[in-house]
Amino acid sequence: MPRDLQAFTEELKSQNNRQLTKSPEEVDDQDRKDSRSNAMTANEGTRGKTFAQMRSGMSKRDALHPYTNALSPKDAASCTRLEEEAFPANERCTKEKFQYRLKHCGELSLGIFTSSSDGNLPTADAAFPVYSGAPKRKAVLIGHIIATKTTNLTLTDDDMAIPSPDSPDPKLGHKEFGRTICIHSLAVLPQYQGIALGMTLMMAFLQRTESHGIADRAALISHKELIPYYEGFGFVNRGESKCQFGGGGWFDMVKELQSGMND
Ligand SMILES: CC(C)(COP(=O)(O)OP(=O)(O)OC[C@H]1O[C@@H](n2cnc3c(N)ncnc32)[C@H](O)[C@@H]1OP(=O)(O)O)[C@@H](O)C(=O)NCCC(=O)NCCS
Repeated sequence: MPRDLQAFTEELKSQNNRQLTKSPEEVDDQDRKDSRSNAMTANEGTRGKTFAQMRSGMSKRDALHPYTNALSPKDAASCTRLEEEAFPANERCTKEKFQYRLKHCGELSLGIFTSSSDGNLPTADAAFPVYSGAPKRKAVLIGHIIATKTTNLTLTDDDMAIPSPDSPDPKLGHKEFGRTICIHSLAVLPQYQGIALGMTLMMAFLQRTESHGIADRAALISHKELIPYYEGFGFVNRGESKCQFGGGGWFDMVKELQSGMND
């Protein structure tokens, strides 16, 4: 396992999300120390990383003051840009899919944002101003986790497709009464990968999903090399997936959720 995620899980459960939702102006020294200590715990055991490398990663992260928020249709353009940066063309979610998913069940999806960027990030142009006394500050998307629900136990190509006027098949897309969360995309801007933003997103997502009792399980498809990463969050490898999305070669990963455990 690349990281001791279990230790981080316990720490995250024992605190609320207060530090993730603060504006840069509100972040005090104690929060910085807490953030660094949480992230450092998560990094213990990190494959081949020196303490100096971890410190540098964490100061990069501290400078961002990242915070998580549910996504809505207005975020579709930022998500599309982020996806272009993070995935090869055959694995990207299209803008139409983002619009569909964020319109029908945006509350299931989560973004991680910064308001501390210098405007040079690829997602900055599509960012919206934050509600604050500083109108130039924007909420710039640096990572996202995109989800829908299905009545299946693992992800299928039908779950990954979306209905359209040409193909209004009710089998396709989000199922409001499904009890399986489909995670379609977990992505972080390349310049901020490897500093635990993906982990923060996934932990916040799972914690929220469990505490709201939204579903019984979460499912995703993974390439072989990321299986250990998802196992670190409690996902179990269910073997080769039938999904042919992006050319196939995926593995089904499923995590049974414990509803209400964080209430
Ligand atoms: C996968 C991803 C979301 C992880 O987010 P992140 O913020 O970079 O991850 P974290 O800092 O929380 O964890 C880093 C760990 O992820 C794992 N990891 C990330 N990318 C990996 C890859 N391509 N192969 C194997 N492991 C990988 C490693 O274990 C890494 O640990 P290390 O830094 O000690 O090597 C991010 O790298 C990303 O957006 N990648 C491109 C899109 C993608 O492949 N998404 C997943 C499929 S939906």
